[in-house]
Amino acid sequence: MKRMLVIHGPNLGLLGKRQVDVYGKVTISEINKDLKAIAKSKGVALEIRQSDHEGEIVELIGASPAKFDAVVINPAAYTHTSVAIRDAIAAIDIPVVEVHLSNIYGREDFRQKSLIAPVAKGQVSGFGAMSYILGLEAAIYLTAHRQS
Ligand code: DQA
Repeated sequence: MKRMLVIHGPNLGLLGKRQVDVYGKVTISEINKDLKAIAKSKGVALEIRQSDHEGEIVELIGASPAKFDAVVINPAAYTHTSVAIRDAIAAIDIPVVEVHLSNIYGREDFRQKSLIAPVAKGQVSGFGAMSYILGLEAAIYLTAHRQS
């Protein structure tokens, strides 16, 4: 059975209450429920973590190849600032899919640059909660079609 890790970055625990005009009313629990249903229907194991702490996210990524086949991450604000998270992703050899609820390329200038995108397998941005679903589907596809 393939094993997937979903990481929600900082402030995503506040979804549903936070800038609803940008992120919508969907809560992290609702997103997680949908992800779990998809994982179940696809026969993959899923672990979901949320952290507001850069170092904790670095540690989760670093430990992930021992336990998981792919990672889906919304690095949130760290997308635009964290060389440490980028380096952690570059250091591992399992596929990492970057997701964003909002379309970061249609927002403020500082959000239009992702330090993560060059080291991620790919990115899904702008589809609200659906970005996570597409990201998980991509991760499952990538692990099923992985060479070696
Ligand atoms: C976000 C976009 C980031 O710019 C922002 O800091 C977030 C959420 C998104 O999912 O749209 O916290 O990653």
